[in-house]
Amino acid sequence: MAGRIPQEFLDQLLGRVDLVEIVNTRVPLRRAGHEFMACCPFHAEKTPSFSVSPRKQFYHCFGCGAHGNAIGFLMAYEQMEFLDAVEELARSAGLDLPRSQGRDSGFNPRPLLDWIAQADRFYRQQLREHPDRQRAVDYLRQRGLTGQTAGLFGIGYAPPGWDLLGQVLGEAGAAAQDLIDAGLVSRDDRGWLRDRFRDRIIFPIRDRRGRVIAFGGRALDGDTTPKYLNSPETALFHKGSELYGLYEARTRNRQLQRLVVVEGYMDVVALVQNGITNVVATLGTATTADHIERLFRTASDLVFSFDGDRAGRAAAWRALETALPFLRDGRQIGFLFLPEGEDPDTLVRREGPAAFGQRLEQATPLADYLFAELRTQTNPNTLAGRARLAELARPLLEKLPDSHFRDLMEERLQKDAQLVNTRLRPPPLSAASPADRNLRLTRTPLRRAIALLLYRPELAQQVADTAFVAQDDDESGRKLLASLLAVLRANPQLTMAALLERYRDTREGVILERLAAWEPEVPEQEFRFEQEFSDILASLDRRDALRERLPEMLMRWGTPSALGPAEREALRNLGKSQKL
Ligand code: GTP
Ligand code: MN
Repeated sequence: MAGRIPQEFLDQLLGRVDLVEIVNTRVPLRRAGHEFMACCPFHAEKTPSFSVSPRKQFYHCFGCGAHGNAIGFLMAYEQMEFLDAVEELARSAGLDLPRSQGRDSGFNPRPLLDWIAQADRFYRQQLREHPDRQRAVDYLRQRGLTGQTAGLFGIGYAPPGWDLLGQVLGEAGAAAQDLIDAGLVSRDDRGWLRDRFRDRIIFPIRDRRGRVIAFGGRALDGDTTPKYLNSPETALFHKGSELYGLYEARTRNRQLQRLVVVEGYMDVVALVQNGITNVVATLGTATTADHIERLFRTASDLVFSFDGDRAGRAAAWRALETALPFLRDGRQIGFLFLPEGEDPDTLVRREGPAAFGQRLEQATPLADYLFAELRTQTNPNTLAGRARLAELARPLLEKLPDSHFRDLMEERLQKDAQLVNTRLRPPPLSAASPADRNLRLTRTPLRRAIALLLYRPELAQQVADTAFVAQDDDESGRKLLASLLAVLRANPQLTMAALLERYRDTREGVILERLAAWEPEVPEQEFRFEQEFSDILASLDRRDALRERLPEMLMRWGTPSALGPAEREALRNLGKSQKL
């Protein structure tokens, strides 16, 4: 998404706005040294641990780990999406969003939205007035829906007949092509315009601002296929990223801590009617990364409800794999498997909301589900089985962002697989004192170099030659440092916030955002930034020299006495410092 807005514009924008001001109008800040502090708006606390750095243009909470730049703050605090946050900032800074490369070059959504809004009104009106409406009303009643719930979701009825809606909107002045583009009608083989939805219950699908952008239509009987028909993909509607009920859930709940994700329209509607209002559904597709992103933007705790059958299990596993890269600290995912033959709609009506709430509370945490599932595929009683477990788990854990949670998962794998030679990270530090955080953040020279660079981007200008940094292409840490140096040398005026913006939603970004919290261990005036930075780069350089001597040293390895203790130590350390 970020790719659609030119980098230079984001640089300019983040150079223009002031994060302190943006935060302060929403969360009053108090000056504390060279930073500003407040009680964190993202978790409950009594003493302030939320700090905003005017120089870095970055905020960080030492309590819950929330962090980001001005764009990130609006996304988190106002629950905005990326483009909306950029738009809002641009407005406040008096900058024009580069339209041609903005949303969908030149596309004006207005006419389509207007015709869809009229269609929405038409369908709701038909449910009240059409001569055939009784069948629809009976159907809804038989499924236990109250008029109030139907009203809440704007449920309507598309009457039988080939071109009712097309005619009504045509008379209102709609061009055929607009109605086709909106997904409301289509041309049949003979070129006639046909309403897409005929004799179906209509569920309007809203975007995050509450505008209807598409519809889902359910057949009134069991024989009609398809049972559900959605609007086609249009310029406004992308099935793989929308969530049914999200707008409704957000307007009903100011702060959503948890969201329940179910499979069907009727599941959402039935749960909400039963007082479980924090619920959304995917639209007949597998869970996508877009979904997960959107969900976590709204709530930190997700519970996925799936059918207990084989298809449900497969869908759950896919959701797990998709969600792993998004599991930063402070976010959680649970899985609720329902008894076979049940869905949330049938269950909540049979058992009542309290029992369903109980099931939600007992949802299986992602970690338990992951290891339980892998254990069904491996035999923990044999060495080969445990090795296989590690082999299966490894690529999954690799998808997790660098976090306490990942550390814990690694430990759990160690325990489950009883392996001693896989990489073990130091246990997470529970104390959050700055010294501890720094230690944890900068436990390798590369990380420390990057932290220094983020704190003092000017340091990039003192490096005479960056070639050696990127020498070894498989070292992700070196590549990152090299790319930072290159960007900073080309754009010396970049703020840290703008620099980090380039890495939004990347694995490197997650690491950089954490390193951005680093603070000098001694007062800034006494800290020797240039000296330390060049020392680290020099040591990286020395290691390269050592590497080149490696073959020769290995030749002598056969006669250990020929290798001095220092050389032996150096050889042993060779690989270590390259890690990010
Ligand atoms: P009800 O029978 O009305 O309770 O539907 P359900 O939601 O229990 O149905 P199901 O579990 O079969 O489907 C879950 C979701 O998948 C639905 O809400 C639709 O979004 C989607 N879906 C189901 N059947 C179809 C279909 O035939 N075509 C399409 N495109 N989507 C479907
Ligand atoms: Mn159902």
